[in-house]
Amino acid sequence: MTMSRQRSSATLAVHAGTLENPVGGMNSPLYADSAYRYLDAAEVPYPRYTNTPNQQAVAAKIAALEHAECGLMFASGLAAVHCVLQAHLQPGDELVVAEGIYGGSDDLFSSCMPRLGIAVKRIAADADALLAACSERSRAIYLESPTNPRLRIVDLRKLCRQAAQQGVLVIIDNTFATPILQNPIDLGADLVIHSATKYLGGHSDLIAGAVVGSAALLKPVRALAVRMGATMNAQDAWWLERSMKTLAVRVRQQAANAMAIADMLAQHPAVAEVDYPGLASHPGHAIAAAQMQAFGAMLGLRVKPPLTADMVERRLQLIASAVSLGGVETTICQPLLTSHARVESPRCVAEGVDEYLLRLSVGIEDAADLIADLQQALHYNTSEHGNG
Ligand SMILES: Cc1ncc(COP(=O)(O)O)c(C=O)c1O
Repeated sequence: MTMSRQRSSATLAVHAGTLENPVGGMNSPLYADSAYRYLDAAEVPYPRYTNTPNQQAVAAKIAALEHAECGLMFASGLAAVHCVLQAHLQPGDELVVAEGIYGGSDDLFSSCMPRLGIAVKRIAADADALLAACSERSRAIYLESPTNPRLRIVDLRKLCRQAAQQGVLVIIDNTFATPILQNPIDLGADLVIHSATKYLGGHSDLIAGAVVGSAALLKPVRALAVRMGATMNAQDAWWLERSMKTLAVRVRQQAANAMAIADMLAQHPAVAEVDYPGLASHPGHAIAAAQMQAFGAMLGLRVKPPLTADMVERRLQLIASAVSLGGVETTICQPLLTSHARVESPRCVAEGVDEYLLRLSVGIEDAADLIADLQQALHYNTSEHGNG
């Protein structure tokens, strides 16, 4: 008797979704066409309809990795967020949002949702608090876990189970964790969004977004996507599919490097706080261990005065100060000036997003080289700065 076996994420990352190659090549052919013959076609492919072969191939790979029924590609992560929410919420509905999400999504909720007649309720990133905040008008809970930039962890099993009982959709942005380390659909989430610009692409050279979930929940999203037109082109879809073949090896190495760096930073005298769920001292450590395969490759660090985040960034020699994240190269940024620049100041203060906070996106370089670079940048010689 043959046993059917669910393939592992490393295997799915390489093989899932690959289109048949008529000349025997290993990769999906690239179909760059934007016009297709329609006579006798059951459904005519057209890029804005999100049904061309390369769009579908990469959507199928992401859906397989997330254990979802199907997926849909977008021109950017934020286009995916926008379309999902607009498709599933109506005027008069309420959206419950976990605090500490990507600043661009936060800004979208502040600027666009009220204009659509959708009320936004911001609540601490905690399962009980989010559930307690839901009212009869609440249609969905939107969150990240780990959150951006403070790496807070939400108990997804608990949240999803009780939200389902209350008839509230759970929509999670899984960009930080990646489908290699966390599968929210298995934990009960309804829709999972990715900025594929980040780990899925992994090489800081494309912009894309994705949403995965059940066919029923994706139907209204696709209907709106066709009208919205934030479409991913075939070339980017092909590049993304190719890049994702190495997703599992990249992400596992990145997470191992991040753990080594977090251990070093936690002992460093110039560092006041390290936000990394892999550290036993992190308040979300036990929940993260129960719902993630490893703790990811994003970490936050708060430096002690007289050092500032800017001083550390300017001293780094290997690690580049750059926006975005998830590439093979390690990058660092000040969330206050980048991801959270458009979030109102009092909310940044409440989240601890200030001039001492840095967010590190750990790459695949040798961990010892990254540690050496951080150590030399954090070294503060009081006599050198006349601040004894
Ligand atoms: C967690 C998260 N979600 C969504 C986005 C938006 O993605 P994109 O820049 O691809 O639109 C970002 C961008 O930084 C992000 O960090």
